Amino acid sequence: MSLAILGTGMAVPGRRVTNDDLAQVMDTSDAWIRERTGIGSRYLSTTENTSDLGTQAALNALKDAKIDPSTIDGILCATLTPDAMMPSTAALIQAKLGLKAQRCLAFDLNAACSGFLLALQTADALIQAGSAKRMLVIGAETLSKILDYSDRSTAVLFGDGAGCFVVEAAQGTQMTHFANTEGDLEETLITESLALNPELTNHPSEVPYLRMKGQAVFRFAVKAVEDALTQVCIKRGISVNDLDLIIPHQANARIIRHVADKMGLPIERFVMNLEEYGNTSSASIPIAYTHAKASGRLRPGMTMALVGFGAGLTWAATLIELKEDTTCY
Ligand code: UT7
Repeated sequence: MSLAILGTGMAVPGRRVTNDDLAQVMDTSDAWIRERTGIGSRYLSTTENTSDLGTQAALNALKDAKIDPSTIDGILCATLTPDAMMPSTAALIQAKLGLKAQRCLAFDLNAACSGFLLALQTADALIQAGSAKRMLVIGAETLSKILDYSDRSTAVLFGDGAGCFVVEAAQGTQMTHFANTEGDLEETLITESLALNPELTNHPSEVPYLRMKGQAVFRFAVKAVEDALTQVCIKRGISVNDLDLIIPHQANARIIRHVADKMGLPIERFVMNLEEYGNTSSASIPIAYTHAKASGRLRPGMTMALVGFGAGLTWAATLIELKEDTTCY
């Protein structure tokens, strides 16, 4: 028995912010952002919080799966930008979906940009253990809450959004997982509270802001993606050349091209939609998956890998082999 994906969905806030829009408020340009990252726009929340985006992605996934929401008995939300320290975003999503009268486990987990894949692994384990039967696995972020718009080296990279898989134990797919962590005391990718000048940023000083050593993360990311893909394929007894499609965390097109070059894999096998959405952290992989599915890139019989990396430092991959006769993906 393995985990089948019954449906997927995504959601982004209503406000699309282009590189040119950002260039109006900070010292940057469309040319710089596109050349260094491949990003052209991102969606930034005005009023939506993480649970709102997670709820909308879940509703879209439930619609895609064509199942009765009352059959859901587990919700996991991967996020580094929860609505609050407590209750969990997953519990808020349960309430917003109107599912609070039914037995349902719900909790958040945080493995930064690898979070969705850790949530998928956790859902697989919970379902195999009999703790739940049919679950929503969500990656949801409002990173705009923790961006310092006076730091152009990070503010241009990230966007808000959410993605969701509806999963249950069934025939149809075979999943193999890999995850690793290298605890980092060097502060490569962190949030920290800064006493910023409120006249410049208009933010209260107690807000924790994202801080990143971009080049160190870049070097880590290239190694981490190659390692995760290689390890998950070894675990399953296949070669990386057997991968028909790779859905990587959408951080930077240069990272993805670097990995493709280094591993000798055609760039066409990698899904990329960061030009539109920017880096949405734990939401990026389910958003990219939903996009790939909508554009007809997923097919029965296909072997694909989802691969992520992020703060922690963490990195993870899930190999999904779709059966020839499946309708689950
Ligand atoms: O999910 C989290 C994952 N995070 C990542 O994957 C990030 C990985 N790292 C990167 O993607 C890249 O390191 C960045 C895109 C963040 C930066 O690109 P880079 O090629 O490493 O640029 P840099 O930091 O070396 O900066 C080069 C120049 C600097 O100016 P000087 O010192 O050469 O005059 C920066 O001040 O570019 C400047 N710069 C900018 N210029 C215009 C930095 N940010 C900007 C900007 N617009 N937004």
